[in-house]
Amino acid sequence: ISLKPYNTFGIDKKAKFFAVATSEEDVKGALVKSNELDIPLLVLGGGSNILLTQDVNALVLKMEISGIDVIKQSEEDVIVEVGAGENWHQFVLYCIEQDWAGVENLSLIPGTVGASPMQNIGAYGIEIKEVFHQLRAINRNTGTSEVFDWNQCKFGYRDSVFKNDLKDKYIITSVSFKLKKKPIFNISYGAIEDTLKAMGIEEINIKAISDAVIQIRQSKLPDPAVIGNAGSFFKNPTISQEEFDRLKSEYPNIPGYPNEEGVKVPAAWLIEQAGWKGQTFGKIGVHKLQPLVLVNYGDGDGKEIAYLSKRIQTSIQEKFGIHLHPEVNFI
Ligand code: EPU
Repeated sequence: ISLKPYNTFGIDKKAKFFAVATSEEDVKGALVKSNELDIPLLVLGGGSNILLTQDVNALVLKMEISGIDVIKQSEEDVIVEVGAGENWHQFVLYCIEQDWAGVENLSLIPGTVGASPMQNIGAYGIEIKEVFHQLRAINRNTGTSEVFDWNQCKFGYRDSVFKNDLKDKYIITSVSFKLKKKPIFNISYGAIEDTLKAMGIEEINIKAISDAVIQIRQSKLPDPAVIGNAGSFFKNPTISQEEFDRLKSEYPNIPGYPNEEGVKVPAAWLIEQAGWKGQTFGKIGVHKLQPLVLVNYGDGDGKEIAYLSKRIQTSIQEKFGIHLHPEVNFI
């Protein structure tokens, strides 16, 4: 079957086999099946972080385990377990309705709950690791369910153990979060404060923050339902302070945000400076408002997007001596 409806880039590649999982048992069954067929099992959440470059010779399993259940609560907080197949943004809206704080800054991120810890999704000053409690995942080798706590997940910037030591070893089936009943607002990301002001909001609450984030995202990120894309295509690189100082003398306007490892530089700025912003190549291109996002205007080919991303990497390497790492998974 065609995977076009199942990836936000809207790439038309086929899966050899396709199934849907609505329970842990379904996932275990699919593992057995893929072993019998002797082909890989590829789990798809929202398909919002993948680039299909060829037909997929695998059993593609669409994760649709649903449910949002309160596990434990106190006056201060609530622990809620969420099925891996729940839509992330719908979950955020549900939390806002319940007045549970912590994920409002992560409004409108495409994809599913099960994929969220994988790359420690983040936006507007918050990362999922700040609200993560634990997760359940099925071990692909043993077929049994295991629980991972915060430490075991080894979260990093757009990173977790599931992208490193345990890559392709587990299938996440549910995630639990610890949310606050007494909110702590995070409006450190400048654009949020400005947007709240522009919206005429005087009293901050989690709904207002969510609305502001939605407005910011809609103003510069293309809606995958309209223009195919997978959000940021590359990670923002961190370079050493010396490297940053060297670049600063050549490019006085270069933005940089110090962190533990050095200075994080916005890939969007590098890509714009190298002249890629808004460029179109046939049916694909670099988004005109957010150059970190590569886009498929319709019928684009995954291979072409992969090739464009290589050209961008080469040009950033040549111009700035910085290597950009993709954030999107190539399949
Ligand atoms: N910039 C430019 N030109 C542009 C756009 C941005 O030079 O056209 C520079 C500016 O210096 C700007 C800076 O890039 O201040 C940061 O831009 P923005 O706030 O749009 O964020 P980003 O660093 O490009 C990251 C995440 C996004 C997330 C936003 C907001 C990564 C790889 N991306 O983008 O996440 O929404 O911050 O927090 O960390 C995603 O992962 O798919 C994603 C969209």
